[in-house]
Amino acid sequence: MKKLFNYLAVTLLSVTSLYAQTARYALVPKPVHLEERSGSYTLPAKPTIGVQSTNPDVRRIAQMLADQLAKSTGTTPVVKTGNAGKDISFVSAKGPKLGAEGYMLTVTPKQIVITAEQPQGFFYGVQSLMQLMPAAVFSSAKVDGVTWSVPACTVEDQPRYGYRGSMLDVGRYFYPVPFIKKYIDLLAVHKMNTFHWHLTEDQGWRIEIKKYPELTQKASIRPSTMVGHYRDHKYDNKPYGGFYTQDEVRDIVKYAQDRFITVIPEIEMPGHSVAVLSVHPELGGNLDRMLPVSSTWGVHEQVLFPREETFTFLENVLTEVMALFPSQYIHIGGDECPKIEWKQSKFCQALMKEKGLKDEHELQSYFIQRIDKFVTSKGRRIIGWDEILEGGLSPNATVMSWRGINGGIAAARQNHDVVMSPTTYCYLDYYQADPKTQPVEIGGFLPLEKVYSFNPSVTDSLTADQAKHVLGVQANVWSEYLPTTHYVEYMAYPRLIAIAETAWTPGEAKNFDDFKQRLEAHKKRLDYLNVNYFEAPINKNFEYVWPKQTASK
Ligand code: ACM
Repeated sequence: MKKLFNYLAVTLLSVTSLYAQTARYALVPKPVHLEERSGSYTLPAKPTIGVQSTNPDVRRIAQMLADQLAKSTGTTPVVKTGNAGKDISFVSAKGPKLGAEGYMLTVTPKQIVITAEQPQGFFYGVQSLMQLMPAAVFSSAKVDGVTWSVPACTVEDQPRYGYRGSMLDVGRYFYPVPFIKKYIDLLAVHKMNTFHWHLTEDQGWRIEIKKYPELTQKASIRPSTMVGHYRDHKYDNKPYGGFYTQDEVRDIVKYAQDRFITVIPEIEMPGHSVAVLSVHPELGGNLDRMLPVSSTWGVHEQVLFPREETFTFLENVLTEVMALFPSQYIHIGGDECPKIEWKQSKFCQALMKEKGLKDEHELQSYFIQRIDKFVTSKGRRIIGWDEILEGGLSPNATVMSWRGINGGIAAARQNHDVVMSPTTYCYLDYYQADPKTQPVEIGGFLPLEKVYSFNPSVTDSLTADQAKHVLGVQANVWSEYLPTTHYVEYMAYPRLIAIAETAWTPGEAKNFDDFKQRLEAHKKRLDYLNVNYFEAPINKNFEYVWPKQTASK
């Protein structure tokens, strides 16, 4: 009996110390290499941050760190040029070893050193440093009674994938600029580097286009919104709208750039375009049709037609969009375009005959190729949902594989680049717990563990060269059932962190139990960041209640 007790005590002790270690170095995403050391560094009252590089971006990153430390710790950090004798040093790496986004972080009881080749690397080094400090370092106000220490270690780290993204749908519901910035901040905390901004939908056009003011004056407002689930067919009969001005877009793009996040705009075509058709019926199947901005979720039969007027319109829109977004990629949608109207149209059938297109899928391919040619002529590249494979993939297109991973595999086999974003792992609008305990969502079931288990590289189906076309992974947050920013965060977190780890950490280093332990420590940081993450507090009658919002747990 005593033996058993001893055994249990020892087991408990080792589990506890494993947990203590994990909590001491609770980095998310998990770094490639972490060497734990004894001892720790404690921040002095007036820390100096030394920057060796003359690159203004590196100095700006050091200043961002100084500003956050000043806010939360109450210390008064100063950024200085040069490294000698500094408390925190930003050192430029000598040779190309860490890669553009890689960094090394060394913490000893005497000093903290971040080494990187590029500004991005320093930025990610700072993210890791912040996560090694007490969670209160993320506070926006001074927190008293904390020892601001950092456990000694060496971290050497670089990402698994170059594309680490999240899409946010602002078409179904509109989210204000400060929230978009917060969304970007959270991507940066988790070392994500791409924000895919889904800006146009059947239910609302959300970006100012100077040449077509009616898009935001009228097409951004729907007459009514669905209440409850789609299958209930209930509406609130209240107009709903919102859009981003070009100044706001520029501000967001710059804000994201400062955090090494590329913003990819999505302008949907030829489907999901009812809002456009509400103000430009001449671009669709029926010039005389009065089509309101849609109030209904789902796939709509009314789509853009491949007319010259449509291409002129889209080229004008894309010209303004490309002037606002410096991203290499422009997302052109391409998903869920029913072919019913094209099948019934004399114009479409005649065009197919003239161009030698054998079916409506090839007509869609013709549509996308026209846009591809235009976007490519401006030095950019198109990316589209995997339906753009049907009827033949446009020469310069990158595919975003959402209906499983097969679209991605097919595209990689054709030597096209691919971003993996399958519903089965990456659709964060799916239920994350028993629907009876959750606010109404679209459906599906995608708990954290399943999201975490995704391996995007599908090496068993692709040759090593083809697998190189898998650029990375993306979490999608569709918003039909996310009327507020609270809901967005509730669905996105913590699952988005699991995607971030899949995108950053080598597959063989991933372990769900270890992730869950690190996540428990990380949740304290999310509390300071005011993130409304999912934790399923349920009352006795299974009525859902929102988690308490607090910045000072
Ligand atoms: C999609 O979910 N329709 C890309």
